[in-house]
Amino acid sequence: MARVPEELIDQIRQSVDIVDIVSDHVVLTRKGKSFLGICPFHDDSSPSMNVSQEKQIFKCFSCGAGGNSFTFLRDIENISFIEAVRKLAERAGINLPDTRDRNPEQQEAYDELYRANELAFKYFHHMLTEDARGEEARAYLENRGISREIIDSFGIGYALNAWDGFLAAATRRGFSPQALERAGLATTRQNGGGFYDRFRHRVTFPIEASTGRTVAFGARALDPDEQAKYLNSPETPVYNKSATLYGLWRGRDAIRESGQALVVEGYMDLISLAQFGVENVVASSGTALTADHARLLRRYAPKATLIFDGDAAGTSAAVRGIGSLFEVGQEARVVALPAQHDPDSYVREHGPEGFQKLIDSAMSAPDFLVEQIAKREDLSTADGKARATHELAELISRIGDQALRQFLIKDLAEKMGLSEDSFIQVIQNDTRRPPQRRTQDPTEPAPPPFDPRPRDERELIILMMQSNEAADAVLQHIPSADFSNGTYRQIVDIIAQNRKQNHAVDVAYLIDQTNSQQLSRIISDMSLELGIADPDQEIFPLPDYIRKFQIRSLDKKIDEVEKQLRNQMPPEQQRQMLEKHRELTSQKRELINPVSQVISS
Ligand code: GTP
Ligand code: MN
Repeated sequence: MARVPEELIDQIRQSVDIVDIVSDHVVLTRKGKSFLGICPFHDDSSPSMNVSQEKQIFKCFSCGAGGNSFTFLRDIENISFIEAVRKLAERAGINLPDTRDRNPEQQEAYDELYRANELAFKYFHHMLTEDARGEEARAYLENRGISREIIDSFGIGYALNAWDGFLAAATRRGFSPQALERAGLATTRQNGGGFYDRFRHRVTFPIEASTGRTVAFGARALDPDEQAKYLNSPETPVYNKSATLYGLWRGRDAIRESGQALVVEGYMDLISLAQFGVENVVASSGTALTADHARLLRRYAPKATLIFDGDAAGTSAAVRGIGSLFEVGQEARVVALPAQHDPDSYVREHGPEGFQKLIDSAMSAPDFLVEQIAKREDLSTADGKARATHELAELISRIGDQALRQFLIKDLAEKMGLSEDSFIQVIQNDTRRPPQRRTQDPTEPAPPPFDPRPRDERELIILMMQSNEAADAVLQHIPSADFSNGTYRQIVDIIAQNRKQNHAVDVAYLIDQTNSQQLSRIISDMSLELGIADPDQEIFPLPDYIRKFQIRSLDKKIDEVEKQLRNQMPPEQQRQMLEKHRELTSQKRELINPVSQVISS
């Protein structure tokens, strides 16, 4: 495969968020400016891995693993660096010049699907907000209390009451009807009588993939007599339903921050909640949450709260959703809405505070499950109790996470009035173990331990990582050869190289520039000390460091001259050497006792 150009790697790294990448494998919780999680690279018991969104690096305080998005993916998935680059490029929607498993025609086919959805997004939104024919849809949304701001922020649109509104617009822009069909935006008549718009006379909701790109639409009928109230895009190569949850892209930060995802059923529920400021929500689009969805949610928060209609259909969807969440080791809670309410109507009637109260009153999943079973089975009879136990055992047997499993066995056994042992006996033990993560590549010889001394060299580099200005000031006054520690020399050389190319000093970028795991570890280690030293602060004044280095460098030269002076030499040469010695010592004196401020960075 062709080498990926440096700028492209750079662009890819800047287009993804390391918090997202790490979240695919580790539950992260926000801790001040950083995120903390259980380190996947060693047998971690308490969260010792730190992920900095600001610096785009990760670092484990316990085992020392550290790096940027690429190296995290490389090490956790045991793939090559270039494969990691390819994966992240795909995630960021960036085309690599040459990808192994997608030929140019295939790539073009994907692009066409994205572009068709993008055009539909713009077209529908335009029809709703600008076109005279959008009046009915505008009135409908206004009537439902949806603000213009929310319409724009969700990209809500309108598909005309016509057979070929979008079809005509898109073919005018060069899309073939076949391509539009592949994108799920057009369909053909059963008897092969040509193409027509899939979405007609409907309010449209763009659905975003985990890259933030629009890949599909949900659409609500305006005509109350229409049979299908909602219509969805079919699955396409860019729209994988089990890997997509409505609202996740938009709400992911809020979900992370609150530590829980609220799961509702409907598009309108999610939109309505957002309008009232409740943003940590995803919508399952009318189906029960699948295990794939649960896995997706687990990347962002350890807890999910399912909000369902209190009726039979809602309850059964909740039970299935709990099963999916349990399966991936996710803590689940449930809110059953009062009759006649959905989250949309509830938040409109009770406001965000009322809604928050509802969330706070959520039932734990085990309580909910036992309550539901007790409604169906008579737990005072041996028969009913056996059936209920069997049902719960089935749920438990799907749980992979040992801790959750043990907790639930204990909790459910108690609630059901069973002994733990007899409950365990009922449960079929078919748990899967989570895959073992690589800790250390056995073929890679362990590098010699790194000696971080001298402290002032380390601190100076940390200052250089802080800002372009600090780096430039240091580079201007101190050649890398003046660093006694070879590793620090290498880092300064990389920084110098970057600055020469006018690239900002950026820790994640520096890590890309090294091909040594040890060096990238050291760089990320050092970057964690960033902020301790401040170039403008009195405790670590940059000019003092520079002066110290210059003095040390002069000392070396003076030593050298003195050594030579001990040898026999012609008087003329000796005179020159003495002159040089005087010159150097006076420079040194000047630095130690500056007559004027020599350097003002
Ligand atoms: P509004 O009536 O617009 O408030 O929608 P809602 O979200 O309250 O509708 P409902 O509770 O009936 O449905 C919840 C979700 O189920 C919707 O957001 C859709 O995703 C899905 N859904 C509802 N009706 C249909 C349908 O007829 N077909 C399909 N495919 N999905 C539906
Ligand atoms: Mn509704």
